Amino acid sequence: MKKVAVFAAGRGSNFEQLCISERSGFLSAKIALLVASKPDIGAIDLARKFDIPYCSIQISDFPEKESYNKAFLDVLDKHGIEIIALAGWLRLIDKSIIAKFQNKILNIHPALLPFFGGKGMYGHHVHEAVWKSGMLVSGATVHIVDPEYDHGRIIIQKSVQLDFSDTPDSIADKVLKIEHEIYPKALKLLSENRIDFSAGRLQIKKADSK
Ligand code: GRF
Repeated sequence: MKKVAVFAAGRGSNFEQLCISERSGFLSAKIALLVASKPDIGAIDLARKFDIPYCSIQISDFPEKESYNKAFLDVLDKHGIEIIALAGWLRLIDKSIIAKFQNKILNIHPALLPFFGGKGMYGHHVHEAVWKSGMLVSGATVHIVDPEYDHGRIIIQKSVQLDFSDTPDSIADKVLKIEHEIYPKALKLLSENRIDFSAGRLQIKKADSK
C-alpha cells in the first residue's frame, strides 16, 4: 500500500475526507503523515483524531530556503512517503521535491482550471473572482503539481451549477462539497497506478479485476 503525506495549512476538511476514505476502505493507500505549515492549524487536531503522525514545517524556523526544503525531503524519506496530496497548501512546492516526486504530487483547487488559478488565487479570492466574473458554473480540479501555481495536468474535474442568488460564500460551500467528492477519487487513481502519463492527454486505466 502506497504511503501518502498530506500537506495542509488550514482547517483540513480535505485532509479529513482523505482520512475518512482511507478508513472506509475506499482508498487503497495509507495516509501516513500530515505536514502542517504551522503548529496551530485545524488539520493537526484532525491528525490527532485519526491518529496520524504529523509535524509542522514553518518557514520562519529556517535561515534559508535550502534547509527549509531539505526538512520536507527528510521527513518524507523518514516516513517512506511515495505520494503527496496538497490540501489547502499555499506555498509553491520546491523543484527539489517535485523532481523526487515526479507525477506523484496532487493538488486540489476550488475552481475549474485553467481559469481562476495562479498566484494569489486561493481560498476566498477564487470564489470572489468567480462571483465577480458572472459565471454561472464553477467547480473543483485535482491536478498534478508542477513548478507553476495551479498548472499541472488535470486528473479529475467536476463542475457545479451556480445561480444568480449565489454569493462568494455559497459558491465556496457548493465547491467544497465537490472537492470532498473528487479528491479521494483522484488519490485512489494515482495510488493504484491507474493514470497513464505517457500520452499527450492523460488516460485512465481500468481497475484490476480481482
Ligand atoms: C480548499 O478549498 C482547497 O481547494 C484549497 O484550499 C482549501 C482548503 O480547505 N486548495 P480545507 O483546509 O481542506 O478545508
